[in-house]
Formats: sequence, C-alpha cells, structure tokens
Amino acid sequence: MTRLLQTIEPILWRDEQLHLLDQRVLPHTEKWLTYHDSDAVAEAIKLMVVRGAPAIGVTAAYAVVLAAREAWFSAGENWKEAVEPALKRLTSSRPTAVNLSWAIERMKQACASLSKYESPEPVLLALADRIQQEDIKANRTMGQYGADLLDNDSIVLTHCNAGALATAGFGTALGVIRQGFLDGKIEHVYVDETRPWLQGSRLTAWELMQEGIPMTLQADVAAGALMASGRLDWVIVGADRIASNGDTANKIGTYSLAVLAKYHGVKVMVVAPTTTIDWLLENGSLIPIEQRMSSEVSEIGGHVIAPVEVPVSNPAFDVTPASLIDAIVTEEGVVSNPSKEKMQQLKKEGK
Ligand code: MRU
Repeated sequence: MTRLLQTIEPILWRDEQLHLLDQRVLPHTEKWLTYHDSDAVAEAIKLMVVRGAPAIGVTAAYAVVLAAREAWFSAGENWKEAVEPALKRLTSSRPTAVNLSWAIERMKQACASLSKYESPEPVLLALADRIQQEDIKANRTMGQYGADLLDNDSIVLTHCNAGALATAGFGTALGVIRQGFLDGKIEHVYVDETRPWLQGSRLTAWELMQEGIPMTLQADVAAGALMASGRLDWVIVGADRIASNGDTANKIGTYSLAVLAKYHGVKVMVVAPTTTIDWLLENGSLIPIEQRMSSEVSEIGGHVIAPVEVPVSNPAFDVTPASLIDAIVTEEGVVSNPSKEKMQQLKKEGK
C-alpha cells in the first residue's frame, strides 16, 4: 500500500533531459529512456513509450523545452521561427488526446511572450514543471470527488489504463479507485485486459497489485456476463477527449461497456481533467479517431496470430455518447447526467 498516495511518476526531468518510463515493456521490465531532442520524444509518443492523454500532454510540454533549446542554439534570435516545425511534428504525433495540443498551445503562448534575445529554456521549463504539478493536483482532487460518488464496498470495472502511468501521477479513473479504496468505498476492481495493446493487463493490473487493491483481470468480452451477474456497481474510465456536449472518446471498447452498463443498470463514471475537454467540438462525432498499425491486432507479443496479410481495422478509441454517462468527474467539479447545458455550466462556474 506504500504507493497509494505517493504513486509512480512516469515522466521525469533530470539533468537537463527528459526521462520516460518505457510503458511498452512493463510489467516485466522497468526501463527508463532518456531524451534530449523533441523529434525523438514525438516518436516516443507515437510508439507509446508514454501513453494516456494527460501523460502525453505533460511529455509534450517538456518536449517543447527541448525543441526551444535546440532552436536557441541553432538559430539564436530567430529561435521562435526555428522552433515551429518541431512543434508541428509533436502536435501530429497522436491525434485523439486533446491534452497534447492543449499543452503545446500553452507552451507556444509562453514562447510568444518571451524576448527573442534570451534563452527561452528557464521560463519554458518552469511552465512544463507547472503543467506536470497541476496534473497531479487535479488527479488528487478528482480522486476525492469520484470516490465521494461511490457507496461503501463498491465493485467496479475499469478499462485501459487511466492510472499514474497515464498521467503525471496518481491517475484519473485509477485515482478515484485509489482514493475510494482508502475511503473504504472499493471492495473489488475488475480490470479489462484491453485488447489489442493490453493496457489493462500490463499496466493497470501492475499498478493495482503493487498497492494491494483487490482486483481480478478479465478478458474484455467477460464484461457483459459480469454485469449480468448483478455484482457490478460502476464502470470507471478515463477519457482522451470530451466534446462540449459531454460525448467522450476513450479507449476502444468503452462504448460497448457503456451500452452494456445502461442495459444492466450499472453506472458509468468518466474521470478526466478539464484539459481533456475540447470546448471547440460540438459533439463526439467530430473527434478524430486514431487508426493504429494492424500488427497490434494480428500479433500478440510478436507472435502472429492471424493469417498473413489479413485486412485489419484497429481504431484506438471510440466515442461514448453523453447520454450513456452518469457522471463526468473533473477537478472543477462533477457533471451528473452530462449535457451541452451542464457542460457549459461547468465551463462558466468551475468549482
Ligand atoms: O492509447 P492509449 O493507451 O494512450 O489510451 C489511453 C486511454 O484511452 C486512457 O483511458 C485515457 O487516455 C485516459 S488516461 C488518464
């Protein structure tokens, strides 16, 4: 239980370089990779060395520091123009999680306010640190808000990994589960393995087991039978992008869970910081859905499990309509039965 409140932080800035915990090789190997150029970080995001919407955002903020340093050394007083191409490459590294472009935009605004005659690094680094710390703080706040919605001894299901690994620390959906466990609200957690990338079996199971939170891993297809048994109280998930009406993009399979949950009377909680809300999008149909490489589906652990050259569809995310969600938990407050109007209220009033 030692890590319950002091969870792993997968993104570290040390010795003027960025260090990322390589999530591709967990849970069997804990390997840290070191980055000193922003293009390599963009590639790391693409390859999912680091993944999870808030974690991608924080990583991108530090990558902007690296890009600006490089631009300052190579172009001097023209660094603001020189940094642009690297920022474009970073922005396009993954399309669905809006935290990525949110963080880059915030860093760009800071760049715009700086003198062209001074190194931008100190100011940008301080801002990236702030973005990281704000994310951890938001997660802790959401953890308590979400836990407060649970009855004692709840049985919950989570999908993908919305834990410390997917954020700067503590987690969104797993933050609620962590806090809920501490508060006596969680009796048991079912963890979907989350095909095809297996974020559930490789990452969420690893996080929960380290903390002694009672859990059971199951195949994604077992969720319906679990709900039919009448034992499940909540589905608790994170989000990659929430449209302004509450429609939510999250890991592929979340929509199926929400439909099943509605049928069985199980409640659905989405936990995400306000940095995951895209106020510019009217509804979820406008959220870009990433298609990933076919080998993620046709192979497991490097072993080919399907006919060679089989046509594959591999959307990484799906969209759950707001009407299937009981609560969206943010650090600014909880939106129950989300709708366009209630989301606007959150935007206006916050906490
Ligand atoms: O493809 P991934 O692993 O980056 O997808 C991650 C998810 O879908 C998470 O549920 C989401 O980013 C929320 S993480 C706090």
